[in-house]
Amino acid sequence: FDFDYNEKYRPLYHFSPQYGWTNDPNGMVYHNGEYHLFFQHNPYGSMWGNMNWGHTVSKDLKKWEYMPVAINPDSLGTIFSGSAVIDKNNTAGFGKDAMVAIYTSAGRIQTQSIAYSLDNGRTFTKYDKNPVLSDLNFVDFRDPKVFWHQGTNQWIMSLATTQTITFYGSKNLKEWSKLSEFGEGIGDHGGVWECPDLFPLTYNGQTKWVLFVSINPGGPNGGSATQYFIGNFDGKTFKADNLPYPLWLDYGRDNYAGVTWSDAPDNRRVFIGWMSNWNYTNHVPTVNFRNAMTIPRELTLVNNGKHLVVANAPVKEIAELRRATEKVSDFTVDKTYTVDRLLKDNQGAYEIEMTVKPTANFNFKLINKKGENLKFTFDLAKGSLIVDRSNSGISDFSDNFASAEIKAPLVKKDTYKIRLLIDKASSELFINDGELVQTNTMFPSEPYNSLVFESEGTIAVENINIYELK
Ligand code: FRU
Repeated sequence: FDFDYNEKYRPLYHFSPQYGWTNDPNGMVYHNGEYHLFFQHNPYGSMWGNMNWGHTVSKDLKKWEYMPVAINPDSLGTIFSGSAVIDKNNTAGFGKDAMVAIYTSAGRIQTQSIAYSLDNGRTFTKYDKNPVLSDLNFVDFRDPKVFWHQGTNQWIMSLATTQTITFYGSKNLKEWSKLSEFGEGIGDHGGVWECPDLFPLTYNGQTKWVLFVSINPGGPNGGSATQYFIGNFDGKTFKADNLPYPLWLDYGRDNYAGVTWSDAPDNRRVFIGWMSNWNYTNHVPTVNFRNAMTIPRELTLVNNGKHLVVANAPVKEIAELRRATEKVSDFTVDKTYTVDRLLKDNQGAYEIEMTVKPTANFNFKLINKKGENLKFTFDLAKGSLIVDRSNSGISDFSDNFASAEIKAPLVKKDTYKIRLLIDKASSELFINDGELVQTNTMFPSEPYNSLVFESEGTIAVENINIYELK
């Protein structure tokens, strides 16, 4: 079929489905030089429904190649979110190095099923004794994320079980037994718990375990968002450290259901999220497709000046997408300062990199000729970073979209290193290497092409580069 890359809001460097709908990223696994990304997909239309696993692969996390739909619905149900692993020791008996997908069969009830591929994810065969895990006590029982736990020599599954995450163990991916349950009385419970991911990160040479839990609704700015916990996991039980929960991976309104790759090289922990929000996603004004993923991000543990957080910053490969560069000389803002033109030929896909040294509250806006703008306010006095998309472009498709303030707690610092990635209809703001992140979509009627600063005092803006990204 024919499809139009020039469609107005089609991203240039983010993954979006060729045709039809996507929500959650699924089954992310690195194997034989390829990053596999499967995704919740309606191949027949651009609203949620008929869930299949779509499939795309990338060698470099920059360009994505479309592959045929990987897993189709069957008598057990449609195919909801889940993960994939490489079975290096053939524990399941499907073959050495089989790629095994573990997903939710969403039928009359939700159960967990598996399917395997012996040809690098090109085709999958469903296990003939599916489902491999069911529990009639739960209505919301889904999104299995599986990894091999060296210490206890078993597969561990994290599963969303309504208001908790339940961990299961297995020797062969086929028989699962309950290990423990986490979540009662801790974190945000404003909505259903979904899409968990449990993985290790090192901090100061020490292994810590991080548990992601997406929640919808209940996000800090309404609707969908991903909270996380930092703690320890002994192969059976996850214990959270004493931190000011809920902690949110991204305070923007459009980063949901994200999880990390299995077996990424160099021990990297690479994340991708779905760049939308259940509040309004079925109505966003695209035509042939709906929704895109975030850029791939590398996760690390850092101290933000107050406590440990999970930082998420663009993977290093993203810098290789930089094309035409506009270098802007350092300037000081004394009340206002305008950078008239970002790029000569602005296709709406670019990055702004800059260092701001504030002495007082300030904001900057991206603006187009129609006056539509996306505004970022650093309120040092109140300790908040606010994104305002109320006048960012088309927003009348949903009452829930343009709510004025999208807020995040901001730790006061002498210097903010800023990277702002724009791709037609999305903005990803990274502060201090991903210590604080806001991802928000917007639908301007033409690309924003100037940058206007306002400040309540004198502030220095340095190392400003504007890069076309492609
Ligand atoms: C999260 C989610 C998952 C579910 C999938 C269905 O966005 O609700 O819990 O598996 O979407 O498409």
